[in-house]
Amino acid sequence: MNELTWVEISRSSLENNIRQFRRIIGQDTLLCACVKANAYGHGLIESATVFTGAGADWLSVNALYEARLLRQAGITCPLYILGHVPDADIREAIDLDCRFVVYNEGSIEAAAKAAREAGKTARLHIKVETGTNRQGIDMQDVTGFAGKIQAHSSIELEGICTHFANIEDTTDHTYAELQIERFTEATAKLEQAGIDAPIKHCANSAATILFPGTHFQMVRPGISLYGMWPSNETYVSYIKERKNNFTLLPAFTWKARIAQVKTVPTGEYIGYGCTYKTGHETRLAVIPVGYYDGYDRCLSGAYVLINGKRASIRGRVCMNIIMAEITDIPEAQVEHEVVLMGRSGDEVIPAEQFAQWAGTINYEVTTRVNDRIPRITVE
Ligand SMILES: Cc1ncc(COP(=O)(O)O)c(C=O)c1O
Repeated sequence: MNELTWVEISRSSLENNIRQFRRIIGQDTLLCACVKANAYGHGLIESATVFTGAGADWLSVNALYEARLLRQAGITCPLYILGHVPDADIREAIDLDCRFVVYNEGSIEAAAKAAREAGKTARLHIKVETGTNRQGIDMQDVTGFAGKIQAHSSIELEGICTHFANIEDTTDHTYAELQIERFTEATAKLEQAGIDAPIKHCANSAATILFPGTHFQMVRPGISLYGMWPSNETYVSYIKERKNNFTLLPAFTWKARIAQVKTVPTGEYIGYGCTYKTGHETRLAVIPVGYYDGYDRCLSGAYVLINGKRASIRGRVCMNIIMAEITDIPEAQVEHEVVLMGRSGDEVIPAEQFAQWAGTINYEVTTRVNDRIPRITVE
């Protein structure tokens, strides 16, 4: 590996996480692994390959370009686009054999026309608004909207779905329960109207783990397939009930290598803005990674791991470089590996710790590691 910085993805951890989900959903529920946002930073193709090999039934992506990349890589499983598909892209989505979510009448017409022209049947999923107020149609419009899909022979209503607003940010699940109630009501309306939408789905990671009643015909977990809990609150809610001995293994280790080692005398400044002044003779590792790579500038007070030991960042995080103190790690030399996130020996910087330093959530810190940085699947 001759990169300045790279991410190692543990295959066995990803496989473990798929197995954990399979165990709690059973064999009759489809497992649709969410690989949007470069598989939450874990590498789209790398993660998709491991997930499908380990038993994921479907993959979900946010946008058509991700589906295109998956197909180009030879991934043949059902792909579900859960983000927006502009009318102009619908033909390609159909050609790539993707199913996708709809919430605009215009998309129904565009899908019907594109499918007719392609000589194929397009599979659509209705998104119902149950309280997130993001994508979705109003509850009272569900039957009429579904009827518009049924009016065309070139398109098929394959599913109906919704998405939770407040299932991971709290241990009070009243709002999530309200959304489940509304979703159930919406699906019942379709049934009463004699309209079949065979695949009902709403469960992200937290819902899948905490509420078996949300599994329906398919679940759509993301974050936890990568070994991360959606939040402390989800973990606390799970621990309170300890329903199913669920073990997640993080898969992400972000590494770089030391580019230079130097000794800086007492009373010298380190980095931009002269924000750090050495209080003693300081041995310093210069590490070629910075905020361009996704190493947030807020991490100026954080640490990295070298040879299983903590090395504090000294001075500001630069665009492409950080400096870390290695006075107490005398064995650290040029070219040695540095762990920016993940495990090194007995020490670990979990994504959650990284997120706390950066003032954000675990979802964001792994997804923001620059896509240009190689993802290497390791055992
Ligand atoms: C529509 C939809 N479904 C499923 C997921 C997966 O959620 P999580 O990563 O919390 O499991 C997401 C993620 O944001 C989403 O937007």
